[in-house]
Amino acid sequence: MSQQTGQTHGVAFVGSGSAKLETALSNVQLAKIVDTSDEWIATRTGIRQRHIAGPGDSVRSLGAEAAASAIASANLQPTDIDLILLATSTPDDLFGSACQIQHEIGASRAVAFDITAACSGFVFALVTAAQFIRTGAYRNVVVIGADLLSRLTDWRDRRTCVLFGDGAGAIVMQRCEGESDHLLSFDLRSDGTLNDCLNAAYEHESVTLAGDITVQKGHFSPVTMNGREVYRFAVKRVPEVIEKALFHAGLSTKDIDWLILHQANQRILDAVATRLKIPSEQVVSNMAKHGNTDAASIPIALDEWVRSGKIKNGDTLALSGFGAGLSWGAAILKWGQ
Ligand code: ACO
Repeated sequence: MSQQTGQTHGVAFVGSGSAKLETALSNVQLAKIVDTSDEWIATRTGIRQRHIAGPGDSVRSLGAEAAASAIASANLQPTDIDLILLATSTPDDLFGSACQIQHEIGASRAVAFDITAACSGFVFALVTAAQFIRTGAYRNVVVIGADLLSRLTDWRDRRTCVLFGDGAGAIVMQRCEGESDHLLSFDLRSDGTLNDCLNAAYEHESVTLAGDITVQKGHFSPVTMNGREVYRFAVKRVPEVIEKALFHAGLSTKDIDWLILHQANQRILDAVATRLKIPSEQVVSNMAKHGNTDAASIPIALDEWVRSGKIKNGDTLALSGFGAGLSWGAAILKWGQ
């Protein structure tokens, strides 16, 4: 398989963690801020509440909490970690927050950097981590998805503000000894022609610096989204990319124990599962509690299902992220050592 050219080592998925956020904002509370209702939001999206970061929370603090918890669950120490990849679109520092997390958790040996691919970010980062492990460059890697979308939300726009929440989740990936490789396959895609469907763009004006030299002065605007277009894109492209990834792995949908999609909308989850003929009991959904937490949604869901004992060692998982870019991708993996 072309994805594995030059591969010398396998990958195992050995730990998970997530951050606990205190504050939840219910649909009923939101209906006091914008013209909406619990009934509209729940029916159209499946969301009942979302968590909002407190004044002292940050991508650094929540990402560090998730990473530390994942490292502990893998029975490792922070100093065992070689690489930290942080998938985020809302860093505390535009130069990157991964190094801040590296410092916060005391992973002094690790190299750390950010990856930005919105709601696909966690799957893209997981696949990137696997390349470093497969080539033998690194042994223990932490992949974090952390986003505070409340920072990029226009709380006056009912079409978007009802969807998003804050959160952080993480996994530990490790080099496998012997022949086994638990990342069975992946498929990643981008389509910049649809970029206008979902943005948090930099808006600026030109300010004269000297003579005819100008500089751009502005700020990042809140999320704008063509909801219907993103919905159409997701229900078509997500089943397609999962089927392609399954094909690379020589598997079929019957081999999947758990489907873990980016938690954007329950209707998208249902439509994808129906197209793939995967029973609803095997579809992981926690969006009623968390809303759409961007790059954090897949690792939070994964961690909740692992900790509750539903996902067991040896289970086959199909992960798929999708969103801004537009970007989308799937990874098929076996959980555990
Ligand atoms: N409360 C009440 N009414 C609302 C709300 C609201 N929160 N939002 C919109 N409406 C109204 C609209 O104004 C419209 O009214 P009108 O017919 O009088 O004009 C009506 O409800 C229908 O609006 P639509 O936008 O057509 O609603 P739709 O059924 O498409 O649902 C939704 C909107 C939930 C956003 C859906 O399109 C969706 O989930 N899309 C996918 C979004 C997504 O998955 N994004 C993921 C990526 S996010 C990332 O990458 C950062």
